[in-house]
Amino acid sequence: MYDEKVVKKAKAIHAEIYGKNPTTVAYAPGRIEVLGNHTDYNAGTTFSCAINMGHCFCISASDKPGVRLTAGDLKETTEFDPSNGDALEKKFQWANYVKGVMHYLRDFDVEINNVDCTFLGSIPMGAGLSSSAALEVATAYAVLAYTGKEIDKIDIAKIGQRAEHEFAGCSCGLLDQFSSIYGVHHGLIHSDFRTLETYPVKLPDDVVFLMINPNVKHALAESPYNARRKSCEKAAAQLNALVDYEVSALRDIPFKDFEAHKDKIDPEAAQRATHVVGEIYRVEEGVKLLKEGELEAFGQYLYDSHETSRTSFENSCAELDIVVEAAREAGALGARLSGGGWGGSAIALVHADQADAVCAKIIKICKTKGFEPTAETIIPSAGATVVE
Ligand code: GLA
Repeated sequence: MYDEKVVKKAKAIHAEIYGKNPTTVAYAPGRIEVLGNHTDYNAGTTFSCAINMGHCFCISASDKPGVRLTAGDLKETTEFDPSNGDALEKKFQWANYVKGVMHYLRDFDVEINNVDCTFLGSIPMGAGLSSSAALEVATAYAVLAYTGKEIDKIDIAKIGQRAEHEFAGCSCGLLDQFSSIYGVHHGLIHSDFRTLETYPVKLPDDVVFLMINPNVKHALAESPYNARRKSCEKAAAQLNALVDYEVSALRDIPFKDFEAHKDKIDPEAAQRATHVVGEIYRVEEGVKLLKEGELEAFGQYLYDSHETSRTSFENSCAELDIVVEAAREAGALGARLSGGGWGGSAIALVHADQADAVCAKIIKICKTKGFEPTAETIIPSAGATVVE
């Protein structure tokens, strides 16, 4: 299942710009992060799902060398040589995710040249729903299909991550790319970033997730994201010196041991790590609760997660805090910021038959606080696919 509307529109724009239909079309979804905030680059685990919005990537052959690339929404076109490893100038930042993926695919003997490409997404920009990872994954799937090559899905995810690190300046983990690749229809996925394994977990039929976007700016490369990653690494290194087993990442320190030693390490690093270690615990306990149908207790973990985002990791913002409180007041089972933070969207877990009422109430409360969020019900969706 993919977003048919965006695929149809992308193909039409491609034909309009280049005067011919694409021969290869791929699609990759965005994601919501359900639990496991900033745990991925700490070798931890996450709970997420692919969503019913994503990016479509179209390719057709060209007689001109290099890659011509059009951003479907802007109807702007740029050109580049994928063998060149430099990022494009800032005004073409949107093209860097594509260039990065095409460049790093070359390490797997996948070379693309003489092509016209178009991409179009249905994920609202800056909503914190992994629009960039969806674009990276859609690019990789399309290029592999066009060139007739196959590589491991984990390598596709790592190529996307490398494009983020080197071409966009964000030292992200693999959560977004994994969610976009391994998403399952009507289910969540549990991902382990040490073993790089995922498995699906069914979402009970009587609950849905709402995505509530206060529409505040969200740009991870300019946020304290990279600084937080460094603080977590510092905490792991200092804890490693205090315990008699190896702590190569925060994943390795159980909650109980962290509590016993946190006062002996750098206070700022300890504060950030409090959120991450708690999140890893909540993911593992949360999976069990969801499987047992303990929705209230599971939802409470979402609220707990938001609370340590706010107080310990400090990656929330005033509008997200208001949305989460509004969700609580409106009767949601749980709510939290989803994704990197410092803007982006919150998610709320609600009983399906109350979704519209809860959603309306959240918006109404936010309006009294001076802003009007956009909200949608999320349909957990299948991962990336080659459409044609
Ligand atoms: C962003 C990053 C992910 C992950 C989340 C926070 O979405 O791209 O790798 O770290 O933030 O959990």
